[in-house]
Amino acid sequence: MAEKLIAPSMLASDFGNLQRDTEMVNNSDADWFHIDVMDGHFVPNISYGMPVISAIKKHATKPLDVHLMIEKPERYIEEFAKVGADIITVHHESTVHLHRTLRQIKDAGCKAGIVLNLTTPVSVLEDILPECYMILLMSINPGFGGQKFEDITYQRIKKLRKMIDDRNLNTLIEIDGGVTDKNIKKLVDAGADVFVAGSHVFRSESQPQTIKTLKELANS
Ligand code: DX5
Ligand code: ZN
Repeated sequence: MAEKLIAPSMLASDFGNLQRDTEMVNNSDADWFHIDVMDGHFVPNISYGMPVISAIKKHATKPLDVHLMIEKPERYIEEFAKVGADIITVHHESTVHLHRTLRQIKDAGCKAGIVLNLTTPVSVLEDILPECYMILLMSINPGFGGQKFEDITYQRIKKLRKMIDDRNLNTLIEIDGGVTDKNIKKLVDAGADVFVAGSHVFRSESQPQTIKTLKELANS
């Protein structure tokens, strides 16, 4: 089985101590930084943009996984690449010409992925799957950290896992929202590869230990 990856969400970090929290992730068992960009239109919340990503990039020694929750993300792909995104995922629901947007991400030198909201059927990916480095399945309604994981995610992972395996692809499945030490094993069993965890990590007593436990559970 390929190594399972942990991506702490910086949305739950302490923005006043961004360098400290970035270094904590550097020195932990985490694999990527998950960076949530929200525009107040596509989702009912505003988070941060390019200057904050630059600040994280300045100290980060691991890849930046940038999750764009913005309308018409094609307007900003090159800028996100320039400030240091390594992976850029865009919502299926946020752009009309998804195929073109994926090409744009790759042309900018990044790995490209598609995000699906909870009610967007995984079948919409049938034709575009070979173009994707990763598919992010939301396991909450996007916009806020600290929400409760939605159980319909399990069946969605299983369907997508089958689609990927049937086509002999290596596309990664990432899960975002409400991931904890209680559900990560079940998510691995359903077929997921990458796990975003925000509040579970940053609200814990020992953040490095929480990350280590997630990494071990996912790979056990
Ligand atoms: C929400 C974001 C998530 C969020 C996850 O829209 O996409 O990445 O930070 O936070 P938790 O792990 O607290 O659910
Ligand atoms: Zn996210």
